[in-house]
Amino acid sequence: FIIQGTVLTPVSATRVDMGRAVVHVAADGRIAARHAHDTPAAADLLAHAARSGIPVRTLGLEQLLMPGFADLHVHAPQWPQMGRALDLPLRDWLEQRTFPLEARFADPDFAGPVYEEMVTTLLANGTTTAVFFATIHEESSLLLARICLHHGLRAHVGLVAMDDPELCPEGYRNTSVEQALAATRRFIHAVRALPGNESGLVRPMVTPRFIPACTDGLLHGLGVMAAEEDCLIQTHCSESDWEHDYVRQRTGVNDTVALDRFGLLRRGTVLAHSCFMTEDDMALVQARGAAIAHCPLSNAYFAGGVLPLRTAWQAGVHVGLGTDISGGYSPSVAVNAAMAVTAARMLDTGNDPARPQAQRGRPGSRISFAEGLWLATRGGAQALGIDAGQLEVGMAFDAIEIDRTAPGSNILPPIHGEDGAAEDVAQQILCNMGRPNIRTVWVAGRQVHGTDAAPD
Ligand code: GUN
Ligand code: FE
Repeated sequence: FIIQGTVLTPVSATRVDMGRAVVHVAADGRIAARHAHDTPAAADLLAHAARSGIPVRTLGLEQLLMPGFADLHVHAPQWPQMGRALDLPLRDWLEQRTFPLEARFADPDFAGPVYEEMVTTLLANGTTTAVFFATIHEESSLLLARICLHHGLRAHVGLVAMDDPELCPEGYRNTSVEQALAATRRFIHAVRALPGNESGLVRPMVTPRFIPACTDGLLHGLGVMAAEEDCLIQTHCSESDWEHDYVRQRTGVNDTVALDRFGLLRRGTVLAHSCFMTEDDMALVQARGAAIAHCPLSNAYFAGGVLPLRTAWQAGVHVGLGTDISGGYSPSVAVNAAMAVTAARMLDTGNDPARPQAQRGRPGSRISFAEGLWLATRGGAQALGIDAGQLEVGMAFDAIEIDRTAPGSNILPPIHGEDGAAEDVAQQILCNMGRPNIRTVWVAGRQVHGTDAAPD
């Protein structure tokens, strides 16, 4: 099909572009052509569409087409406690609230409705790619993969591995290294073989929960398996003072070095949080081609820290955003993008050159809203090696139609019809958009949310 309207897209980590355009989405779900409005090429494309019966959809002046969001870190089974229990420290929160909740996902009848509600809500919030921690339970975790596939969400799903009795409770842990490894292997194969998943829209992930929850034998076995199965990995890394110290005491090194020794730092490994990484850690992550899921909202609660994002970027590390539901309370990647900008400013605060005695921030930490948009879209997709996150030729058409005049919207309309700079509009969207503004969502060219998407 062809869609024409105002397109807002990141063109680089620091630059946003906005303009009327005609976009051709091919049968394979990719953008085959994009031409500026009122150019001969755009006119040719529209004439070709008219001759060949290709449907054309025209968006109004108040609608915007932008790339969908990538959420690199979501705990699917924590959906029922989203917005709750944030006043506990990480370890207490895991032991008192989270492990008991996740244990209930042994029952697929409990898991099904939760996962259904979660997947449709993420899509309604404009998330087109999601990376999930499920639980240790094979049946309900496979159900999550099926639900993602059914609704068309581009997803990575991890069967959680956690076997260390030091931290994991009796009723919610793998019973042995062998049991955990066999379950992970079966899960990888089962997700890849799901009917309807021939294009690999839903992928498995090797998922050691974090070093404190796993024995050395399990971590080593999972590293070997990821290489054998050529499977992406996700885990938590250098998240909080408690977790960071725990790993240092047990292994004598930081998380990144320990993960690397277990073969768990590979191209596309997604490291959630990473607040306490040093420059050496960042260099190692970059050398291995691993990526960071920056979870700024969650970090304000459990980490008590802020990711030195600028340092990660300077080291050449790919970074995307994670909601970390329910460590973060919002399912919206836009909220987390705005929070990333806010957190970076707070990290930078207090660097008044006139008052050198009161230097308390980390100079140069600020990021722009254009960079926030990049994190939310292309940054996340790039971390996973996915061709999406920009509305450019060759990319998958993973996109959101924003209606700035939707009833109940907090986005103020442009003054006298003048929109201003693309970066202003991007900022306004990240700061003020909500569900009412998200009218239609597509993944790989398939409409996955919204009701009003009939062609002209
Ligand atoms: N570390 C280990 N498990 C978890 C979890 O579920 N959430 C967060 N935020 N950190 C973790
Ligand atoms: Fe997490």
